[in-house]
Parts: sequence; C-alpha cells; structure tokens
Amino acid sequence: MDIAIVCYSLTGHTLDMAGEIAKGIREAGADSRIFNIRTTEADREYLESASGLIIGSPTYLAASVWQIRKWLEEDSLKINLSGKLGGAFATAHYAQGGQDTAIMDMLGQLLVKGMLIYSGGGSYGLPIIHHGPVALDKEGNHYEDSRAIFRIYGSRFASKALEIFG
Ligand SMILES: Cc1cc2nc3c(=O)[nH]c(=O)nc-3n(C[C@H](O)[C@H](O)[C@H](O)COP(=O)(O)O)c2cc1C
Repeated sequence: MDIAIVCYSLTGHTLDMAGEIAKGIREAGADSRIFNIRTTEADREYLESASGLIIGSPTYLAASVWQIRKWLEEDSLKINLSGKLGGAFATAHYAQGGQDTAIMDMLGQLLVKGMLIYSGGGSYGLPIIHHGPVALDKEGNHYEDSRAIFRIYGSRFASKALEIFG
C-alpha cells in the first residue's frame, strides 16, 4: 500500500511536515514517498500505483501556491487519480493566514479529479483535524507542537486507505 505526498516547499516547512505525515503512514503499515515539486518531479508510475495522494502547500496570500495549482491543472493530467484517497495540508505564518482556504482549494481540485476525500476528522477521537493538518511557523510553539498531529493525520489516512483498498 503506497501513499504519495506531493508538495511544494521553498523554505522547508511544508516538506518537513510532509515527513511527519510519512512517518505516520509508515506507523500504520503503509509506505510513502514524498515529492517536493520545487526540486523533484513526481514519479508518474508511483502515483499511478499509489492508493492515496496527499497534497501539501505553503499558504501564500491566503491560498495554495500557484506551483501546486499548476501541478494539479497540468502536470498530473496524464495520471488517473480517480478513486484514490485524497487529502491536503498546509503550512502558514499566522492563525488567520488563510490556510483553511488553501486546503479547501486543494481538496476541491482533488474532488474534481474524482478522488475520495478524507481529513481524518475526529474519527478516532482527539485531535479533531478539520479539513487537513496545519502548522504555523510564527505562532508560539505551534509549529513544533503540530508534528504529532501531522503524524496522527498520516496514520489515520493510511488506516483508512488500508480499510478501503486492503
Ligand atoms: C510570498 C509569500 C506569501 C505568504 N503569504 C502568507 C499568507 O497569506 N498567510 C500566512 O499565514 N503565511 C503566508 N506566508 C508564509 C508561508 O506560508 C509560511 O512561511 C510557509 O510555512 C512556507 O512554507 P515552506 O517553508 O514550505 O516554503 C507567505 C510567505 C511568502 C513567501
């Protein structure tokens, strides 16, 4: 069971949190590869065979970055993502920085591709992960404290993928 994580990361936060998600995925018994599209092309074969895809973006101007939108609009077009489990996460500076808008923007695009969307939510109790996990790099200890939630998200996501796709 493979779950791909495709993200864009310039200063490393989004990639860092992708790593935490991947740890959680492995804890749940699945495997994961991370593609930071700023430096690495996402492996088409891996994505085709993966059961899930998680997209990650920094929040820029209260939205996901254009590079992720381009990847979803153009670069991923030859990959059949329909029926796969999909999720999204974001990093941002501020609590009111628009990270929710960024996540919903990405989730909407995954829906259009016919993916099954999953946030982890409160399905296994606390923490409730609303639309997807978020880490804030300028709000107290939020960034470091978020690591555990990203791992839990990865674990929940992989558990759901294993439940659906076995
Ligand atoms: C051009 C630009 C726009 C940004 N806009 C926002 C924003 O609207 N809201 C916010 O909370 N943070 C904003 N940030 C902060 C980034 O979202 C945050 O530092 C993020 O963790 C960077 O991710 P990265 O380290 O993976 O590149 C912005 C940063 C840049 C460079």
